[in-house]
Amino acid sequence: MTPSIIAIDGPAASGKSTLGLRLAGALGYLFFDTGVMYRAVTWLALQRGLDPRDEDAVTSLAEKTPIEVAPASTSDGRACDVSVEGQDITWETRLPHVEANVSVVSAYRGVRRALSDQQRRIGLRGKVVMVGRDIGTVVLPDADLKIYLDASAEQRATRRYHELLLRGANADYAEILAKVVERDRIDSTRDVAPLKAADDAIVIDSDALNADEVFKQALALCQ
Ligand code: CDP
Repeated sequence: MTPSIIAIDGPAASGKSTLGLRLAGALGYLFFDTGVMYRAVTWLALQRGLDPRDEDAVTSLAEKTPIEVAPASTSDGRACDVSVEGQDITWETRLPHVEANVSVVSAYRGVRRALSDQQRRIGLRGKVVMVGRDIGTVVLPDADLKIYLDASAEQRATRRYHELLLRGANADYAEILAKVVERDRIDSTRDVAPLKAADDAIVIDSDALNADEVFKQALALCQ
């Protein structure tokens, strides 16, 4: 039987969103990228002039501001629409200053509780591919299929570098690599819901695989 709840976790820029989106498309499921919610809270905190290190203020913001995530309404390269208080902030959540602070914000217990509860409610409806860091371990520990998508930091930085160039943005490989490594360090060493593969996750190492090959392997696991 095709798994109904599919969790994909893994480190920064390992191709989780690309895989998740394709898998959801092939199965006719909802694609839900949980990373955008942490990015949205981070963007909002910075926008309001809050210090991302102010745990109480950021947590209270996460608790009282609903973040809307919906299937992409425009084909401008986005995987989904992200909005807050009626404002589309999809591309704002990808800005470098948001990315530089998101791991600090997402280590806060209260922020995680607020966002994980919303994610769990959506995930438990089924027919969903949910992507993040703690989906198979914390958000949906009973997921029918858990994939942990891994790759070396160098390979991931190379992919993010090309992604940025394609989007016409400025990109510096060494800087991207350093940021990816730092984000992974914070994400995997935090006390609450650290990044790690669930015991029952199937690990796919994509170092030697292209996006098509990763997709084929994951689809085979569903069939
Ligand atoms: O796309 P990329 O892998 O670069 O990052 P993302 O999935 O958008 O996640 C951004 C950040 O949000 C991560 O570095 C984590 O700090 C945090 N995150 C998390 O803590 N838990 C999740 N389930 C998803 C993201």
